[in-house]
Amino acid sequence: MEAEMKKRHPSETRPGDQNGEEENRQRDLYDTGDIQEKMKKVDVKTSSPTSLLAKNSLILPTGVIGPSEQKAKTKTKTVSSASATGNPRNKTALAPGHSLMDWIRLGNSGVDLTGVGGIPRVVTLSELANHNKQTDAWIAIRGIVFNVTRYMDFHPGGVDELMRGVGKDATKLFENVHAWVNYQSILQKCVVGKLSRGSSSASSAAPVTEKSAAGANNCSSVTLGFSKSFAVPKVVEKNSDLPNVNLDWRQTSNSITLFYQAIRNYPGIYYQLQRLSDSKFIFRLTFEKHIVTHELELIADVEWPPTCKRNFDTMQVDFTFTKRTKDIWKSQGELRENTLSRGSVANKRTYKEYEVLNNTPICKLVNLLILRAKDSLELIPIGRHIEVKMNIMGMEVSRSYTPVPPCLHPEDMAPNYQPDCVCLMVKRYPNGALSPSITALQPGQTLIMSNGLGAFVIELFDRYPVIHMLAGGTGLTAMLGIIQRALARRSVALINLLNFNKDEDNMFYVSQLDKVSMEKKFKITHILSQAGDKWEGRRGVVSDVLLRELIGEYSLEGCIFICGPKGFMLSAKKCIQKLGWASYQIYEFDS
Ligand SMILES: Cc1cc2nc3c(=O)[nH]c(=O)nc-3n(C[C@H](O)[C@H](O)[C@H](O)COP(=O)(O)OP(=O)(O)OC[C@H]3O[C@@H](n4cnc5c(N)ncnc54)[C@H](O)[C@@H]3O)c2cc1C
Ligand code: HEM
Repeated sequence: MEAEMKKRHPSETRPGDQNGEEENRQRDLYDTGDIQEKMKKVDVKTSSPTSLLAKNSLILPTGVIGPSEQKAKTKTKTVSSASATGNPRNKTALAPGHSLMDWIRLGNSGVDLTGVGGIPRVVTLSELANHNKQTDAWIAIRGIVFNVTRYMDFHPGGVDELMRGVGKDATKLFENVHAWVNYQSILQKCVVGKLSRGSSSASSAAPVTEKSAAGANNCSSVTLGFSKSFAVPKVVEKNSDLPNVNLDWRQTSNSITLFYQAIRNYPGIYYQLQRLSDSKFIFRLTFEKHIVTHELELIADVEWPPTCKRNFDTMQVDFTFTKRTKDIWKSQGELRENTLSRGSVANKRTYKEYEVLNNTPICKLVNLLILRAKDSLELIPIGRHIEVKMNIMGMEVSRSYTPVPPCLHPEDMAPNYQPDCVCLMVKRYPNGALSPSITALQPGQTLIMSNGLGAFVIELFDRYPVIHMLAGGTGLTAMLGIIQRALARRSVALINLLNFNKDEDNMFYVSQLDKVSMEKKFKITHILSQAGDKWEGRRGVVSDVLLRELIGEYSLEGCIFICGPKGFMLSAKKCIQKLGWASYQIYEFDS
C-alpha cells in the first residue's frame, strides 16, 4: 500500500523554535461543543455575557466533533495548499503584543470587550448588519453574537479574513474555515448576546452519541476454558471487512498472560485497556474501520497494572497480570466481544485526568513528564499525538504533544515509569500560552489529556529497510517511537537521524541518542544553526547540499520522516524532492 505524502493540518504546526522560519502560532484551540444548545438554557436577561460563557464552557461536551466539523477537517487535509479554506495559506504574522497569551491578558484586564457594557441583549439580524466595520465588528456564530472589534488584530487568519464574517451570521463560513477552533473560549469575554434568528446552522453539528455508535454492533460472549486459543466469533469472521485477531492466553501459578495477534496484518492497532475491578477489564482495539472491545472477567483477582510487551517484528502484544493469589486456574473466566463500526465513533475525542508522577528537566528548555491515568492503560500507536487541555487564566487552551517511549536504552528508563504511564517531552516557551504551565506541574497534580489522535500508520513503511529522519527541535519527539521500533526490527538495516536544532540549549535527549547510536544500524548527526564557539559538530540549516551528503539521492530502499516547525518542514521537503525522492516515500508529521 502506498502512503500519501501528508500535509500538516493548518492548526498543527509546531512553533518556530529552531532552524526554520519563526512561526507565530495561536492554535489548537478546538471547538468542544454546541454552545447554542447551552445558551437556550440561559436566561439572557439576567446573566452577564462572561458568566454565560464561563458557565457554558464548563458544561460543553468536550471532545465530540460533529459530522460537519469533521467534514471541514477532512477538507483541509485534501487541499494542496496549507489553507483551511483551500485558498493559498492565509495565516498572517501577528504584530508583537498580539499573541494568544496577550489576548488572554487583555480579556482578564477588566476592559469591556463586549462594547455594550457587558449587559447581554437579544440582537436582531438588522442590528447585527449595522456592526460591519473593522472598528465596530459583530459576528454571529451558532446563534451567539460576539463583538470581535478588539480581536481583529489577534486573529491568526488576519483582519481581512475575519471581516468576511462580520455583520452577519457567519456560522457556515466559520465552520468551513476552521470548525475546530474553540471560539467560545477565545471570545468568552466578547459576548453581545443571543441572535434573535440564526439558530438553523447550528443543528448540523449533532454530536456522535454512544447510542448511535452502538447501532453498528456485533456482540458475542465466550467462556474461556482450557482451550488454548480464543478466536474472534464466527459472525465476525464471515465478514472479510471486519478485523480478525487471535487472543491467546497462558498462565503460571503467578500470572496470566493474554496475547493479541492480528491474523491478517492489521496496521496501527490502538490498544486501550481499562480496569473495572480487580478481575474485570475492558480491552479496546481500534482498527482502521472498526473498534473491537473485549470485556474480560477473570475468575480471580489480579494486580494492576499488567506488564505489557510488544513484539515489533510479529506485531504480537501481550499483557501479563500478576495473580493476587498463587494458583493454577481451571478456567480464565468470561469474555464478551463487541465490534463497532468505526465510522460512527471515529471522531470521538475522549479526555481523561492524568496524574503527574514525575516532571523533570532533561535539558535547559525541555521537561520529561511521566503521567498516569487511574485504571487505564493505553498503547498509543507510534507517531500519534495527544491533546492536552488546561485552563489558562480562565481560557481553555489545548496543545498537541507526542507521547515518547520511556527510554531507548534500558539504562535510561524514565523515572517512576510504570506500564500504564504516558511520557511526554515538552519544551518550554517562556511566552507560550500553555508550555510554561505544563512544565511547571508538580508531582501529584493532574493534567487533562485526550486519547491518541492522528492517522500515521508506521506499518505502511515497513517495506523500507532504510529510514531517514529529519527532526527539527521538538520534532524529535515524533521520531523516538519510530527509532525504538526500528531498533527492534530485524528488517531495518539503517536508521539515519538528522537532528536539527538552533543551539546547544535547545538540544535534548542527546546523550541517550548517542548511547543508542553505538548500535551499528543507528546513525545520528546533530546539526546546529546557531551553535556556540565550543560546538564541534555540524553547523547549518536544512539545504540541498547538506541533505545530498547526509541522505543522498532517491533510493528504492528508503523512506523519510520529517517533523519540525513549519519553515523547517517546507525547506526539508523541497530539498528532498529535488533529490528525486517520491512523495509516497516521505511522511510529514501532523495529527
Ligand atoms: C502534532 C503535534 C505534536 C507536537 N508534539 C510536541 C511535543 O512532543 N513536544 C513539544 O514540546 N511540543 C510539541 N508540539 C508543539 C506544541 O503543541 C505547542 O505548540 C508548544 O508547546 C507551544 O505551545 P505554547 O502554548 O506554549 O506556545 P504558543 O502560545 O503557541 O507560542 C509558541 C511560541 O511562539 C511565540 N509567539 C506566540 N505568538 C507570538 C507572536 N505574536 N509574536 C511572536 N512570538 C509569538 C511564543 O512566545 C512562544 O515562544 C506539537 C505540535 C503538534 C502540532
Ligand atoms: C467567520 C469568519 C472567519 C474567517 C473567514 C476566518 C479565516 C481564518 C483563516 C483563513 C485562518 C488561517 C487558517 C490557516 O492557518 O491557514 C484563520 C485562523 C484562525 N482563526 Fe479565523 N476566521 C474567521 C473567524 C474567526 C473567529 C470568529 C475566530 C474566533 C476565535 C477565529 C479564530 C481563528 C484562530 C484561532 C485561527 C488559528 C487556527 C489554527 O492555527 O488552526 N477565526 N481564520
